[in-house]
Amino acid sequence: MSINQLVYVSQAVRKMSVDDLREIHVKARSNNELIDVTGSLFYNGGWFLQVLEGPAPTLAKLYKKIESDPRHKNSRVLYNEPASFRTFPRWNMNMTNLDERQADKYDELVEVIDAIRSNRKIGSASPAVTLLKLFKG
Ligand SMILES: Cc1cc2nc3c(=O)[nH]c(=O)nc-3n(C[C@H](O)[C@H](O)[C@H](O)COP(=O)(O)O)c2cc1C
Repeated sequence: MSINQLVYVSQAVRKMSVDDLREIHVKARSNNELIDVTGSLFYNGGWFLQVLEGPAPTLAKLYKKIESDPRHKNSRVLYNEPASFRTFPRWNMNMTNLDERQADKYDELVEVIDAIRSNRKIGSASPAVTLLKLFKG
């Protein structure tokens, strides 16, 4: 089945505790398993970055639900394109908490997206991987 990869960034409405993040993670993992969605969720200094992978109609519905979640705001889709493979085939939702690390990556993220849009090479098989590297770095 053909799949899309959707990447968005958003801002937490308040500082997320380890328990807050665990709650999101547990729910996401079990829900996503039922709808054949995989991906990865990063939390870093008040920012979320999430990669969602699955059938396009499924992602559209899921993103709508996630976007309206009151725990975050200003969600912005950076990337939503067909993908020939899953970057996170083994994770219904991986979660990485990078809190307290430098998180002011928003401009850089947007720059990478612009590069993707204008077909400039960013030197990776998957834009999602590039984004994640950037976010972690
Ligand atoms: C940053 C963030 C990421 C989330 N990611 C997912 C996800 O990948 N899958 C999911 O089902 N819910 C995710 N959620 C939770 C949804 O917004 C929503 O609370 C949940 O899906 C409701 O599940 P229910 O319909 O089973 O009650 C996320 C929430 C936040 C704040």
